Amino acid sequence: MLLELREITKTYLLGEIPVKALNGVSLDIDKGEFIAICGPSGSGKSTLLNIIGTIDTPSTGSVRYAGQDILAMTDDEQTAMRNGTIGFIFQTFNLVPVLSALENVMLPLSFRKMSAVAARDKAMGTLVGVGLEKFVNHRPNKLSGGQRQRVAIARALAQEPALVIADEPTANLDTATSMQILDIMLDLNTKQKITFLFSTHDPRLIDRVKRIMWLQDGVIKSDQRKSAA
Ligand SMILES: Nc1ncnc2c1ncn2[C@@H]1O[C@H](COP(=O)(O)OP(=O)(O)OP(=O)(O)O)[C@@H](O)[C@H]1O
Ligand SMILES: [Mg+2]
Repeated sequence: MLLELREITKTYLLGEIPVKALNGVSLDIDKGEFIAICGPSGSGKSTLLNIIGTIDTPSTGSVRYAGQDILAMTDDEQTAMRNGTIGFIFQTFNLVPVLSALENVMLPLSFRKMSAVAARDKAMGTLVGVGLEKFVNHRPNKLSGGQRQRVAIARALAQEPALVIADEPTANLDTATSMQILDIMLDLNTKQKITFLFSTHDPRLIDRVKRIMWLQDGVIKSDQRKSAA
């Protein structure tokens, strides 16, 4: 099993008032799955993805990644584990404005002490893979929303993650671009067996995933697997 969550709760304090964002979430994710997390605004989707991506920690419960207890790790161990295995795509892309598409994709590779030549090759290959070969030298403000999202996907993929987590990856995109992004993700899922877990409000994406999880008030209301469309 790639990922095992048990009885995850998360309580935020809003001033002095506790807000229960997650209220006992347990789930298993296998290698190669393609999963959408749906649910109303405030149901806990981002909180859950942040916990799985080790960006946030739960109040109680356990998270195992390939059998290892993530919460028992030191910060350094967590970072090492995340760098090799989890790619996170943020809703707002989080691209560095003064860097080109290529440099944005290279940046986390250089943090991992990859040589500049190797990082450049890897970044270039990944950008070509998402159809951005003509745009590698463009800065984010010279790219469309869909192109920026593809840079963010390339940045996550260049690190060869087993699991890609994306918080509303198509929220800011028009229908045609959303479908292109979904096609890229499905293609990577099929060909490279990369596991995808993403939140969405978009019914057109929901139709094409292999598994849908519905969250409501911080609990999983339903979890359905279906044959791929
Ligand atoms: N940092 C925070 N401090 C306090 N409360 C928070 C914090 N982050 C989230 N919450 C609360 O936790 C609950 C779940 O929020 P979350 O962002 O996970 O929802 P979501 O399903 O991603 O919503 P959306 O679809 O609007 O993105 C909400 O009630 C939210 O107000
Ligand atoms: Mg959210």
